Amino acid sequence: KLSIRDLDLAHKHVFMRVDFNVPLSEDGSEITDDTRIRETLPTLEYALRHKAKLILASHLGRPKGKPNSKYSLRPVVDRLRNLLDHHLGEQVNVAFSPDCVGELATELSRQLESGQVLLLENLRFHAGEEANDPKFAKQLASLCEIYVNDAFGSAHRAHASTEGITHHVKVAAAGLLMEKELTYMSKALEEPAKPFVAILGGAKVSDKIQVIDNLLNKVDALLIGGGMAYTFHKALGREIGESLLEADKIELAKETLAKAEAKGVRLLLPVDNVIADKFAPDAKSQVYDGSGEYPAGWMGLDIGPKTIELFTKEVADASTIVWNGPMGVFEFPAFAVGTTKVAKAVAANEDCISIVGGGDSVSAVKKAGVAEQITHISTGGGASLEFLEGKKLPGVEALTEK
Ligand code: 3PG
Repeated sequence: KLSIRDLDLAHKHVFMRVDFNVPLSEDGSEITDDTRIRETLPTLEYALRHKAKLILASHLGRPKGKPNSKYSLRPVVDRLRNLLDHHLGEQVNVAFSPDCVGELATELSRQLESGQVLLLENLRFHAGEEANDPKFAKQLASLCEIYVNDAFGSAHRAHASTEGITHHVKVAAAGLLMEKELTYMSKALEEPAKPFVAILGGAKVSDKIQVIDNLLNKVDALLIGGGMAYTFHKALGREIGESLLEADKIELAKETLAKAEAKGVRLLLPVDNVIADKFAPDAKSQVYDGSGEYPAGWMGLDIGPKTIELFTKEVADASTIVWNGPMGVFEFPAFAVGTTKVAKAVAANEDCISIVGGGDSVSAVKKAGVAEQITHISTGGGASLEFLEGKKLPGVEALTEK
């Protein structure tokens, strides 16, 4: 695909789709994690140093096609200005347009000078964004001469700003973050250094089944933890008490186990779990390893110590690691041990390519203080999952071929 580096940006209006869908405080005034903004800085720097007139557009939350101050991108302006000033070592002019299309947006973008930034208000304040309305896409396109997509996190959405707009511009290029994400992820999936180990967690089998299916064609070992492991345990006839279960997925779990065996992939499930007497941060807990009595009414909330040891060993021997999803109820500190230990194990393997995606595993890596040791932390949640499922991402497909 065409890259921003292939283009002459000087003195042109560059419309850059970014994913500034950042978590905000309850009242919407404060950014609680600015990773997604920081990760675009190299692309923004590139555009500004090459004298672009830079128009930034993003969605934030799901305001359902109507303006809603709770989802305004206004709080991003100051943060962006500070980050840019710091990153570039000089003051950058960052203006804000309270609407992403219309007269005001047009006028403000006309006033932009080379090396300046205009951030547009939330694209999803217009229903045309998610509906991928050609009229709306055309309005967005009318602001620019060049379109760049750096929003990997939104690349799985075929929306006006990620897909529709590309039909109304001469060139649609990938930004540096988009390129970086695609390079790491496709290298891991298409030509992984072996052994290739994937770690999957999260609550539901149904959320991850397509990822599992796709990865079974690629990995040497698949480690499954988190809530979805109990449906696999059930499929094997193991006692799971009141643990999370998708009863209608038991057959699918059986088929998946058989498929893994047929393909020669080692599919590893937890050999023990930390079980609790209730779903609460202060629950009583003990380890259950499949033998003996399962206390009535208890449920599994984390992987156990033997499983941590088993997974750690697999991870230590891997040359490529892809991790998506927590190993337990990570939001309760008492049941975050498995996820944290896995994060540390992934980080401790310094010779491998490690890729972490998905909100919870990313925050686990950050909380464990090992983010620096991970080769690539994806800014995409849904987008990285769909990539792992082997799906084509509309926002990537729409970019101009080189
Ligand atoms: C994300 O946070 O995964 C992306 O920004 C996409 O957001 P969406 O799921 O609301 O489309």
